Amino acid sequence: MAILLSTVAEDIERAARAIREGKLVAFPTETVYGLGGQATNTAALARIFEAKRRPSFDPLIVHIAEKEKLSEVAALSLLSEERRNLVQRLAENLWPGPLTLILPKQNSIPDLATSGLATVAVRLPAHPVARDLIRRAGVPVAAPSANPFGYLSPTKAEHVLKQLGDRVDFIIDGGKCEVGVESTVLDLSGDTITIMRPGGLSRERIESLIGPVSHIDRTTSHPTAPGQLPSHYAPRAALSLYPLGAIPVAITELPQQQLACLFFDEKSRSRWLADFSRAFPAKDAPLTRVLTPTSSLLEAAANLFDILHELDALGVDQILAERVPDRDLGPAINDRLYKARGEAKESR
Ligand code: TXA
Ligand code: MG
Repeated sequence: MAILLSTVAEDIERAARAIREGKLVAFPTETVYGLGGQATNTAALARIFEAKRRPSFDPLIVHIAEKEKLSEVAALSLLSEERRNLVQRLAENLWPGPLTLILPKQNSIPDLATSGLATVAVRLPAHPVARDLIRRAGVPVAAPSANPFGYLSPTKAEHVLKQLGDRVDFIIDGGKCEVGVESTVLDLSGDTITIMRPGGLSRERIESLIGPVSHIDRTTSHPTAPGQLPSHYAPRAALSLYPLGAIPVAITELPQQQLACLFFDEKSRSRWLADFSRAFPAKDAPLTRVLTPTSSLLEAAANLFDILHELDALGVDQILAERVPDRDLGPAINDRLYKARGEAKESR
């Protein structure tokens, strides 16, 4: 069973030593908890895939603690000068933060970390514990989200403990992740700059800095990054997704304790509850949850996975969810809800 650590210096030092020894450490970042191992140690990388039961074609994100370390993992000289300047501008302004850059890889990064791709995903997280850990480890740290493949990402140490507790050596408990959805993945290695995964940093913020970028509409395109496979962040419960304000009140055939409705904000919930009691005056309303009482997309992102974890823990079988407004972190939230759709799964 994993040893739980706190965020005091001695504990982080112990975790850093474990990383250098090829062990696995789950640690908090501002987005979600990561499952960390030394990025240049193939045995550690193999253990990450094994712990996650992750198909090895899925490349990992390499985490660094200082901007100066970027050139140790990415071969920036393979980029045009213009592109190098953009990378510089992004790193200067948006790192540390929830932004992952896809760049040509350095030879020091094993193929196992990148699934044989010529590119590497690099991120400089903003969470002080993550940075302290990587700095003390003194090596780049490969870290996918600390969940079994296909399941919800963890935003609390207890989520990791429950899902992977018997497969990691240490878990650092740094409380709840502030951002709550994974980093935005931006590919700078090709001819066009493309958002491969919407995430904790908005497209608007990126474009305000470097101009228009393309993005992949996962509902129409062929999946290229494994994060785009459908049902990739799924809860155990079946989830149906509706437009904002359009969860039908008529779907109440299931026993009510097994059904939950997930609303964007309080306004949306109260409107739905009013419709429901008008339609079914004699029925009790089903279980409901609200992503953000204050109608803030930041707050909605921070609560999303935590609420889905909670509904799974409550044994909910069917979740009816609505999309959130499509601005700021909205696309990242809608993307995760979209990927959470599908049939109920066996409990994992
Ligand atoms: O916020 C995050 O990014 C978290 C925390 C722990 O940093 N990490 C995370 O890692 O979400 P993971 O492994 O669950 O997701 C990595 C994503 C996947 O969608 C993967 O396909 C993509 O990054 N990726 C990694 N390397 C890539 C590459 N060379 N080219 C294209 N996509 C890549
Ligand atoms: Mg993941």
